[in-house]
Amino acid sequence: MISIKNLLTSEELYKEDIDEIVNLANDIIKSPLDFSNICDGKILGTLFFEPSTRTRLSFESAMIRLGGSVVGFSDANVSSSTKGESLQDTVRTVSQYADIIAMRHPQEGAAKLASLTADCPIINAGDGGHQHPTQTLTDVLTISQYKGTLENHTIGLVGDLKYGRTVHSLLKVMNLFDNNNFILIAPEELKLPTYVKEDVFKDKHNYIETTNLDEAMDKVDILYMTRIQKERFFSMSQYTRLKDSYILDKSKLKKAREDMIIMHPLPRVNEISTDVDKDPRAVYFNQVKYGMYVRMALIMKLLEANNA
Ligand code: CP
Repeated sequence: MISIKNLLTSEELYKEDIDEIVNLANDIIKSPLDFSNICDGKILGTLFFEPSTRTRLSFESAMIRLGGSVVGFSDANVSSSTKGESLQDTVRTVSQYADIIAMRHPQEGAAKLASLTADCPIINAGDGGHQHPTQTLTDVLTISQYKGTLENHTIGLVGDLKYGRTVHSLLKVMNLFDNNNFILIAPEELKLPTYVKEDVFKDKHNYIETTNLDEAMDKVDILYMTRIQKERFFSMSQYTRLKDSYILDKSKLKKAREDMIIMHPLPRVNEISTDVDKDPRAVYFNQVKYGMYVRMALIMKLLEANNA
């Protein structure tokens, strides 16, 4: 059984929890029909106060594939929060209808706040620039599927390492596993913040920082591309200057290893050219599918932990 009752941050996951969720997801992938009635009669609430395509729909699809049902909203403007209802009251209300809630909110710490008043488990589906732990589980399952192990990888992370919440969580989780090394590729202005570096690496020196994607290309087993997060910038002129910092196209892949994989949490803007999509190393649309399977596993594990 996993050690947590809610999933609020990826930090609270122990290595054993991750192994348990990933192993169950791998079992579901092998034999999905064996799990199609596991959540009969259960209801997932999806409270999305911020836009989403993958996270919301994969959660909903996950619950339906487990035999359960879904209630919720995809736009805060159709909820009573527009009348001034607090987040705590909204979540407490929905937890009277649902057995488990996945929520996305622009405020950092919103999922933690929700967990204090909810009468059911809360899954953080993104809270501002803070955390997106189910994206991390998606990424980890994808690595496990393609590489067969979560150890011994050189991972290149590219783009907006300052605001990219998926990068911060992925670094932390992959650093729990042995012998992983990291190449952090970002413009000076979007480097991994010092507080994240101190938190992730502590006394380990298993990373290098560079601004040069081409130089790193032949060294990585996993290339994790990210979008420059326009919505987190305070200055649009800075965004405009930085938005095209790294554009991965077919020609740049010439130096890459044959068994490298290219990941991206999506959505992309222009940082991966569409001519890369057909390259067998481009796995980002399969990554999307693994997101659904890992959320199936997470829903099962959290319901089990809360019924124990
Ligand atoms: N990766 C991700 O969180 O996508 P959405 O914003 O579409 O949910």
